[in-house]
Amino acid sequence: MTVVRTIQEAREARATFHRLALVPTMGALHAGHMSLIAEAKKHAPSVAVSIFVNPTQFGAREDFSKYPRPIDEDLAKCEAAGVNFIFNPSADQMYQHGAPEIVVDLPALSSVLEGKHRPGHFKGVCQVVAKLFNILSPDAACFGRKDFQQLRIITAMTRALDWPIEIVGCTTVREADGLAMSSRNQYLTADERTRALSISRGLMHARQQVAEGIRQTNRLLTTMQNTLLDVGKLGKIPVSIDYVAAVDPMTLKPVDTITGPTVLAVAARVGMTRLIDNVVVDPSDSK
Ligand code: PAJ
Repeated sequence: MTVVRTIQEAREARATFHRLALVPTMGALHAGHMSLIAEAKKHAPSVAVSIFVNPTQFGAREDFSKYPRPIDEDLAKCEAAGVNFIFNPSADQMYQHGAPEIVVDLPALSSVLEGKHRPGHFKGVCQVVAKLFNILSPDAACFGRKDFQQLRIITAMTRALDWPIEIVGCTTVREADGLAMSSRNQYLTADERTRALSISRGLMHARQQVAEGIRQTNRLLTTMQNTLLDVGKLGKIPVSIDYVAAVDPMTLKPVDTITGPTVLAVAARVGMTRLIDNVVVDPSDSK
């Protein structure tokens, strides 16, 4: 496995591979990331993983400095998974001192949901993913559906800027009890871990209601909210809901009545930890 830390070395290493699939990450790799690596292998004979905690996508009061960085464990996991190439740059390497700020913005997609609660977040994500695409020239790149808005925005950016890169969306990997895997789950205390289950439970309840024939999203959103406040409380302070939403998977605009595939999405804070999750419901799945 080739491990490089500078852009120059990354370009040289890239040239030694023919077709390449990229899995961009911020490290602290878990089974969700590993499933993206497995999927990447289906799309190209060689797989690159980037590990970079990107400062430009974190807000001033967010967890950039405490974000986990277990680089040795991450490299061992990638090696065991048969990754060919790791790009692990420093922030100085990616953002040269004094360089003018550059913004790739898709306002219609990035001003809602996560974008509304994390101003500037998707500008940072687009900036770093655009740079990674330019440095590594992948033929395919894999992203998780857990961050469905990020996947949607990167797909739209790639098409709008005419990059010949196949963007692959990958299934959300969950713990046995339903909690979506996330590098941020390790911030949770045992008590918070139990309360965090309200997020996936709420989504599963709502999905069950769609299967039973309910089509009005206000009923589904109420179910999700009630589950968050009920399971998320356990006699302590409740989880704090940033949003529950039912949106169109392409436009990310709110949906009132479900007539086709619809994303049900949640963002909530459990203690100091902010978690997101979603499921896609489709009326054709119901009885
Ligand atoms: P990070 O949070 O490390 O996630 C890297 C990739 O793993 C993303 O595509 C994310 O959607 C995916 N992922 C995370 N949890 C998952 C799960 N439980 N199941 C399946 N996939 C999962 O997302 C980022 O990093 C950054 O924003 C990045 C795209 C690297 C740009 O900095």
